[in-house]
Amino acid sequence: MAAVLERLRVPPESLIVENGIGCDDYNKIAAQFCDIGAGITSNMINADLIKPEYSVLDVGCGLGRLARPLIEYLVDGRYVGLDTTKSSVDWCTQEYSDVPNFEFIFANVFSNDYNTDAPLKASEYRFPLDDRSFDFVWSTSLFTHLVFEDFDNYIKEMSRVMKPGARCWNTYLLLDSVALELIDILNAKNTRHNLPHEVHGGRVRSLENPEAQIALYEAMVIDTHNKYGLEIEDIRYGPWSGRKHNVRAGGQDVVIAVKT
Ligand SMILES: C[S@@+](CC[C@H](N)C(=O)[O-])C[C@H]1O[C@@H](n2cnc3c(N)ncnc32)[C@H](O)[C@@H]1O
Repeated sequence: MAAVLERLRVPPESLIVENGIGCDDYNKIAAQFCDIGAGITSNMINADLIKPEYSVLDVGCGLGRLARPLIEYLVDGRYVGLDTTKSSVDWCTQEYSDVPNFEFIFANVFSNDYNTDAPLKASEYRFPLDDRSFDFVWSTSLFTHLVFEDFDNYIKEMSRVMKPGARCWNTYLLLDSVALELIDILNAKNTRHNLPHEVHGGRVRSLENPEAQIALYEAMVIDTHNKYGLEIEDIRYGPWSGRKHNVRAGGQDVVIAVKT
């Protein structure tokens, strides 16, 4: 029974492979899926970003890595996950059908990496959610796959659906002066974080598929938050660029902002 419960709402190998989470050792990847989700959400809870009665929105929710550990905690609240990969949304909708306050929405928008048949651009997408209806909004590893125009619209939409005083918490590969100094070393190493090409708003790994990996200029990320009424509260840098000092655990950088 314990083994069955442990595997509850853990995606099957086929979906893990389809989503590019990994393909080597399913048991190891499934355990990481649970541990990373639990680690990130417990940090959010400990930082008072999520409370049991909050309405929360997970943009680019994937296979529910951060939804799973919140079931027990968000007893009086509401969780909405939104994603452009239909198979992920369908699987989550089925797996969480016994959790009435958890909902998953398919965002049928174009993504070169995830949804190539969609008719609508992400830069023109309006989240099917009410204005000022969420206490906390986040994304993990979403803005590493959106070109600048799409990112701009998603920050606008996040701000629209946030209540005044609500916070957003998003991960990025941010190009600040430190990361920019390290770019050449990073590119020479030819890792998954190499970013040889300049595009509007950032640098990408591949010009043919900019959504495969994009880093955004920090100054433009800050300006975009300000443009849509989001005041930056904190920026915590991760070690992805090779930065050595004052780095947070976890790979990417995090920007936290409050709706004014
Ligand atoms: C690297 S995965 C991260 C998934 C999840 N946040 C996690 O941490 O497990 C990126 C996710 O963003 C989703 N995505 C990409 N572009 C999107 C868009 N324009 N709108 C909504 N979701 C998008 C993908 O379908 C994918 O599930």
